[in-house]
Amino acid sequence: MKIGQRSDYTFKYNKKLGRHGWLRLTPAYSVKLVEEVIHSIPQNSFILDPFSGTGTTGLVAAENGLTAHSLDINPFLIWLGDAKCRNYSARELKELRVGIDTVLAECKELANEENWLPDIHNITRWWCEHTLSVLAALRQSLVNQFEEPANNNVSSLAWIAFCRLIIETSSAAFNHVSMSFHDEVTTFEIEQIESLFVEILEAITDSAEQPLSGEASIYSVDSREKVSIDGVKYSHVVTSPPYPNRISYIRELRPYMYWTKFLDTAREAGELDWKAIGGTWGVATSRLQSWESNGTQLPESLKRVVSRILETEEKNALLMANYVWKYFHDMHLHLQNLKTSLKKGAELSYIVGNSSFYGKQVHTDKLLEDSLKMLGYNNVGSRIVRKRNCKKELFEYCVYATWQESRVFVPKYFRTHQDNAVQLELL
Ligand SMILES: C[S@@+](CC[C@H](N)C(=O)[O-])C[C@H]1O[C@@H](n2cnc3c(N)ncnc32)[C@H](O)[C@@H]1O
Repeated sequence: MKIGQRSDYTFKYNKKLGRHGWLRLTPAYSVKLVEEVIHSIPQNSFILDPFSGTGTTGLVAAENGLTAHSLDINPFLIWLGDAKCRNYSARELKELRVGIDTVLAECKELANEENWLPDIHNITRWWCEHTLSVLAALRQSLVNQFEEPANNNVSSLAWIAFCRLIIETSSAAFNHVSMSFHDEVTTFEIEQIESLFVEILEAITDSAEQPLSGEASIYSVDSREKVSIDGVKYSHVVTSPPYPNRISYIRELRPYMYWTKFLDTAREAGELDWKAIGGTWGVATSRLQSWESNGTQLPESLKRVVSRILETEEKNALLMANYVWKYFHDMHLHLQNLKTSLKKGAELSYIVGNSSFYGKQVHTDKLLEDSLKMLGYNNVGSRIVRKRNCKKELFEYCVYATWQESRVFVPKYFRTHQDNAVQLELL
């Protein structure tokens, strides 16, 4: 069977789908894919997405009347996901529209003043001085009207529109896996910027009017740790974790994060990337050089893959070997701790991609399958979802499993009179 690139199984499919299209993040996965995974899930299910990103799983669940908890470590994405999964009343949206009229009037006055600009490295590569001064004035005017975006309320919609605006007026090009730059920056006049902002905001508020019948909440949680939110046990895990391909979410998100003050310095960016599974930017790279596992037992197949990368004796072979080792170490830790928050019979679906280092294949699907089996999950397997690019060997997979707690009888001499007939759970 021929396996295609299937753009309908990528973020491209989401662009015109209401809330899903509010802000682009390349590694977001497709709404269609999530809908296919969850279409037969009963209404009383509880879904977990331990790697929420832009909140696709939570939002699809809420749109389909289901309940979900979504987790992430990136404060900007938690804020964005929260804004996307909220219901907005007609009164709130009206207040926002009135507030925006004031913002636009004040922006013209502020345009002649010196306003705060983010500390983005080489900022004039993104925007020319003139466009920057208008964006800074609009930003200041939004702050005066609504305060900084840290809290979630209806004004988050204006901040999301501002994020779209900064990217649409920048020289950033998205025609690669990650962000790159056009050769030239375009100059935008204040009238152009204001009307583009209003156009974006109208599209966002129109889709925000559509109520969500289900419920999705986003939490700041490191998914390598045990998850415990109101004692909930999840019946389904539907997610797309980072891939071992050295893409940094912080790097991709930096223009948004700096302009919204979720990030202030390059050092902070590196620290945040170090916490992310597969993080590899700034300080994260230097820490990887000397990273050592804490002795967690991992599948033998991983050791073989890491040895093959080391044997290439390439200049950065040790760094790449450590990168791959730490990625699967962190995913193993996640899958291990996840067990404590799963219902018996819980179904797991992980969308992941494979990669290759110095020509050595890293079969993410098989390595995660080995972790799942080693950790006692059942019905472990995977299927190919799509081809990732023209390079033959890069694919996206859905790795699946179920969680059926193993039970053993406690030998008679270990039983007390209370648990005489009771089985002990092996966790
Ligand atoms: C591939 S993206 C998820 C994309 C998402 N499915 C979407 O549609 O937007 C992976 C996400 O995992 C998050 N992440 C990485 N390490 C994490 C950790 N230790 N705990 C929680 N989230 C983490 C990243 O911040 C990123 O948002």
